[in-house]
Amino acid sequence: MNNADTGIEALDRSYALPARYYAGHTALALEQRAVFARSWQLVAHQGQLAEPGDHVVGQVAEVPVLLVRGHDGVLRAFPNVCRHRAGPLALCDGKGIRALHCKYHGWTYTLEGQLRSAPEMQDACDFRVEDIRLPPLRVHEWQGLVFVALDAETPPFDEVYGGIVERIAPIDLSAMRYLRRDTYDIACNWKVYVDNFLEGYHLPHVHPGLSKVLDYRAYDTELFAWHSLQSSPLRNSSTLYGDGQAFYYFVYPNVMLNILPGRLQTNRILPLGPDRCRIVFDYHYTQDETAQTRIEADQAFSDEVQREDIAICEAVQRGLSSGRYVPGRLCPKRESGVWHFQNLLRAAYAGAAGDPA
Ligand code: FES
Ligand SMILES: [Fe+2]
Repeated sequence: MNNADTGIEALDRSYALPARYYAGHTALALEQRAVFARSWQLVAHQGQLAEPGDHVVGQVAEVPVLLVRGHDGVLRAFPNVCRHRAGPLALCDGKGIRALHCKYHGWTYTLEGQLRSAPEMQDACDFRVEDIRLPPLRVHEWQGLVFVALDAETPPFDEVYGGIVERIAPIDLSAMRYLRRDTYDIACNWKVYVDNFLEGYHLPHVHPGLSKVLDYRAYDTELFAWHSLQSSPLRNSSTLYGDGQAFYYFVYPNVMLNILPGRLQTNRILPLGPDRCRIVFDYHYTQDETAQTRIEADQAFSDEVQREDIAICEAVQRGLSSGRYVPGRLCPKRESGVWHFQNLLRAAYAGAAGDPA
């Protein structure tokens, strides 16, 4: 490593992350291990898991996971991996099941993870269903959202998300209700999308419409231990969002919370391969008499901004993959969020003693 390359530098001396982190399976495998397996991953919202037997299937790093609310009302997370021969306990999200039936050979577990029956196993010596349980994973519910962490070393949830609720008051995320999901598959490394989210530097050049609504001069970035916040007063948008502030949170490593008065948009960036990622937007709104008009206008507008970001991110990926990019200097005034994210990554890579070069 050298400092202009992967070392941690002061903001006003910093360089962008080298291109090799944005390509190839070695870099992504390192990130699955050092980043995704060691962080809180947003996997569901509470509306999907309100009653006993409600369940959600997902994936964290390379582990299929299953979230299920027990008969005792407790929300649990398990690897979605049967203790027999690794079959799936659920194939899709659902409501109100009474037990977990493995889809391969029918072993059945309680919603609390205890094996209850295993067909035709009577000849297996010393085999007792009561000895077999699904191993629980860490799960955390916050403001209507549900998170899972695979690794015991993942920082406590409150260390990562602490301070957000207080900062955005009187906006109350827990009062918002899930309305819909939009998914986009994009031909870029997941970090290209995150880097792009983390700076308003591109706003005047990429988003002419959004620039009219946000006040670029007042656009501000604040850094915290595990998250950063970009905020801007809203202007000329009384029909769209009303007056107030826009809060754009990034929470390491791949969650965005885009908060406007009356609206939360969560955004997860999921790697599909070294140069492909999936963006999953969930929209949550407060309900009032203006909701329907606001919701329609908001979605049309968000889609326009999204298409502008996708086009530039895919072009940047081609640049990173060209073999012609050497890390450039970051803009201290406008790219502190990128610097913060890339330094968290550098620390994670170093902690995993890995360099994909
Ligand atoms: S793998 Fe689950 S019952 Fe066989
Ligand atoms: Fe953008």
